[in-house]
Amino acid sequence: MTIQWFPGHMTRARRQIQEKLKLIDVVIELVDARLPLSSRNPMIDEILQNKPRMILLNKSDLADAKVTEEWIKYFKEEGHTALAVDANTGTGVKDIPSTAKILLKEKIDRQIAKGMNPRAIRALIVGIPNVGKSTLINRLAGRNIAATGDRPGVTKGQQWIRVGKEIELLDTPGILWPKFEDQNVGYRLAVTGAIKEEILNVEDIAFFAIKYLAQYYWPAMQERYGLSEAPKDSEDPDQIVAIMEEIGRKRGAVMSGGRIDLEKASSLMLRELRGGKLGRFSLESPF
Ligand code: G4P
Repeated sequence: MTIQWFPGHMTRARRQIQEKLKLIDVVIELVDARLPLSSRNPMIDEILQNKPRMILLNKSDLADAKVTEEWIKYFKEEGHTALAVDANTGTGVKDIPSTAKILLKEKIDRQIAKGMNPRAIRALIVGIPNVGKSTLINRLAGRNIAATGDRPGVTKGQQWIRVGKEIELLDTPGILWPKFEDQNVGYRLAVTGAIKEEILNVEDIAFFAIKYLAQYYWPAMQERYGLSEAPKDSEDPDQIVAIMEEIGRKRGAVMSGGRIDLEKASSLMLRELRGGKLGRFSLESPF
């Protein structure tokens, strides 16, 4: 799904989240475990203010587990509570309610001390498009509630979804925009498919991916495409293009006259990467 984020959309999205914040106790911020910073909204701290928050590294089934662990440490050092989850299968999802309770412990204890019966914790899921918000809502609800591919600025009546005994979740997530200013952020998002290829050139996206993978995941690439040797200098664009050509040749992306169809080779390689054919990978690391 492609969303054009004009300034008006951003203002409206921000306002909508701030309205919802008044109703809730805790924010569940979703990021993509493969690129936890690039898949975050650049103004998230400002938008959420002091609302208690947990960060979920979603799609952790696709990410490099070692790097995900490092990211969890990183977020902890930043003073956040972070969990790795997979909303598709539900791995890690059962820890969300207990984590919310820990985050709100002081408030709950205060209510109990006053003789009050603590009400259900109210939660809101926020994140950029395609990060898995609707999938997580459906998973927590145990049924199909949120339509995937929700759009910013489209308001509909919102409802509370009961999750277990102690949590209530807003059924419409807060949709936030990604960070656009940094070109590498755009490329990382495009490699995962979060930004569609009409926006960025497919060969450029594949170039970016291959350059990164050649550096950090060479054995997987070499094995998948039967590549001859790792680039000696992955900063040298010619060496990266040579790998793209080799992939094209191996996969029959050859035009008449023997020239390699780089566009075809790029699409093919990206499709396989996103489909998990090159194994799990992360596109940024904290240390
Ligand atoms: P959104 O509401 O934040 O926009 O995201 P949504 O739930 O629609 O999820 C976007 C895509 O990501 C969906 O794939 C969904 O199945 C996938 N997804 C969500 N969580 C996980 C996860 O933990 N692991 C994996 N592997 N995939 C996850 P889709 O329907 O195929 O859409 P698309 O890939 O064609 O965009």
